[in-house]
Parts: sequence; C-alpha cells; structure tokens
Amino acid sequence: MDGFLGTRASFMLDLVVVAMLVVLPTLAGSIYLVRVKRNYLWHKRIQLLLGVVLAVAVTAFEVDVRLHGWTHLAEPSPYYASGGVNWVLGVHLAVAVTTTVLWFVVLVRAWRNFDHPPCPGPHSRWHRRWAWVASWGMTLTAITGWVFYYLAFVA
Ligand code: HEM
Repeated sequence: MDGFLGTRASFMLDLVVVAMLVVLPTLAGSIYLVRVKRNYLWHKRIQLLLGVVLAVAVTAFEVDVRLHGWTHLAEPSPYYASGGVNWVLGVHLAVAVTTTVLWFVVLVRAWRNFDHPPCPGPHSRWHRRWAWVASWGMTLTAITGWVFYYLAFVA
C-alpha cells in the first residue's frame, strides 16, 4: 500500500516515521511532568501508553516489511547501490534493538518496584539512571530511523 507522505515508502513506513514525531515530544512531556511537576502518576500512565503504542507500531511495521520487503522501493536512491542505505540501516537496527530491550526492562522494573500509585523510593536511583539511557536511546532510534528513511525513500 502506498504511503501518504508522497515518497517511495509504504504506508506502514510513513506511519512509523510520523509516529516517532509524536513519541519524542510525548516522552519529553512525560519527563517534564515527573522532573518538574512531580506528577508521578501521569508519568507512569504516559510511559505505559507509549510502551503499548511502540509495541503495536513495531509489530505492524515488522509484518509489513517481512511480507512486502522494502529494497525495491529503495533501489532508485543513489545511496542504495553505494551501500549507504544498508550501512545506516545497520546502525539504526543496532540502536533500535538495544533500546527496545532496555525500554522493556525499564518499564517492567518500574511497574514492579515503584509503589502503586508511584512515588520516589529505593528503585529511584536505578530508574533515573537507566530510564535516561532508554530515553536517549529512543531519541537516537528516531533520528537514525529518519536518516534511513530519507536516504532510502526520499533521495
Ligand atoms: C520506559 C519507560 C520509562 C521511561 C523512559 C522513564 C523515564 C524517566 C526519567 C528520565 C526519569 C528521571 C527524571 C529526572 O531526572 O528527575 C523518571 C523518573 C521517574 N519515573 Fe519513569 N520512566 C519510565 C517508566 C516509568 C513507570 C512505568 C513508572 C511507574 C510505575 C515510573 C515512575 C517514575 C518515578 C516515580 C520517577 C521519579 C523518581 C525519583 O525522582 O525519585 N517511570 N522516569
């Protein structure tokens, strides 16, 4: 199915590119809520929602790419034959897979170790350290994903 951004990419690829545009500001908002407003409950709710949105997006995207492939859409790009597209994809996948695993661990550990409703406690130290790593990982995942999208389907 054709995408809606007017590039060579498929509908699912376009959807994931736009979804990441929504996910990053939402993540920033959630961190602002917990850090500045000390609104732990809304931070928790937003992070759980983001976890579900990301899981659904990744699954739908994987199914689309595995069923229909993507290389035929990227072949017209000057960066495809030179290997640039595959190189960036390699970097993107390394960052994305590591971040997905870490994200899941941070989410499950937070759910198990913070009180219900959540508030700072013995788990805070671990959570603050690794949740920041996961947040920067998600940012890097989006940026490398956008670079890949541009090189493969726009250029
Ligand atoms: C992958 C999911 C999550 C990410 C990326 C994330 C991100 C963050 C970040 C970056 C901070 C530190 C803010 C600062 O520097 O002060 C933080 C704090 C906090 N988060 Fe999360 N969070 C996630 C999930 C959750 C969940 C599910 C809960 C509740 C069950 C939770 C509860 C808290 C609490 C209570 C704090 C405050 C800790 C303290 O300052 O003592 N987080 N989170």
